[in-house]
Amino acid sequence: MFHWLEKHPFFFAVGVFVTIAFAGLIEILPNFAQASRPVIGTAPYSTLELAGRHVYIKNSCNACHSQLVRPFKSETDRYGHYSLSGEYAYDRPFLWGSKRTGPDLMRVGNYRTTDWHENHMKDPASVVPGSIMPAYKWMFTNNADVDTAYAEQLTVANAFSVPYNEPVPMKDGSTKIVKMGKNLAEARALALAEAKEIVADMKDQDVKDAVARGEIPEIVAIIAYMNSLK
Ligand code: HEC
Repeated sequence: MFHWLEKHPFFFAVGVFVTIAFAGLIEILPNFAQASRPVIGTAPYSTLELAGRHVYIKNSCNACHSQLVRPFKSETDRYGHYSLSGEYAYDRPFLWGSKRTGPDLMRVGNYRTTDWHENHMKDPASVVPGSIMPAYKWMFTNNADVDTAYAEQLTVANAFSVPYNEPVPMKDGSTKIVKMGKNLAEARALALAEAKEIVADMKDQDVKDAVARGEIPEIVAIIAYMNSLK
């Protein structure tokens, strides 16, 4: 058999290919089954967080920021636990990024707060002297697009069975239920309720007034998103 193969290079090559492909499958397949499942503590995005994620994409924050902590001591000391594939289960699209002009933001919700983000987005150098990050002043006057966020929620909930309105296990053993509105009016109300909690920790009076009127400025949505990154 092997003597025959050695004399027939084409079939030998096919044999090599099949052997390597089989070994590759044995390595890869278990990962599809295991690691791509959401890890404990990973919850789907709320309507407001998703609207903030859209603001993040729209402003190309991912051009300067990664969302992927690599398993190196220098990174885990600074940002926390390295990223696990299951933590991205509800990220569509992934925002891993490929360049760090600024720091990684995968776990920024653990060490930055609403009021810090408010100051930082308005004028980065006021909280981080010498910062080269641009200011995003228009986020304080533009309104977030909650309707599109709700449309995305509806799509992913149906297509990928994202667990909205269901208990999701958290790291401390508790469960969390992320609500999704049954219709657009309910989704807007849920987003506004979440926005009210966030502006309670903000000081910009115009933003507070806007939320009191029922509007949601982009800054509130992006802060909701930043706070969700843990
Ligand atoms: C031109 C590159 C650039 C862009 C675009 C950019 N940033 Fe930054 N960002 C930086 C730099 C540099 C820093 C580090 C200095 C600082 O904290 O201001 C930073 C810091 C941050 C921090 C603080 C992180 C920490 O751990 O201290 C946050 C949060 C942040 N950026 C969010 C954003 C968001 C949200 C956007 C999009 C709206 C954005 N950045 C767009 C360059 C950028």
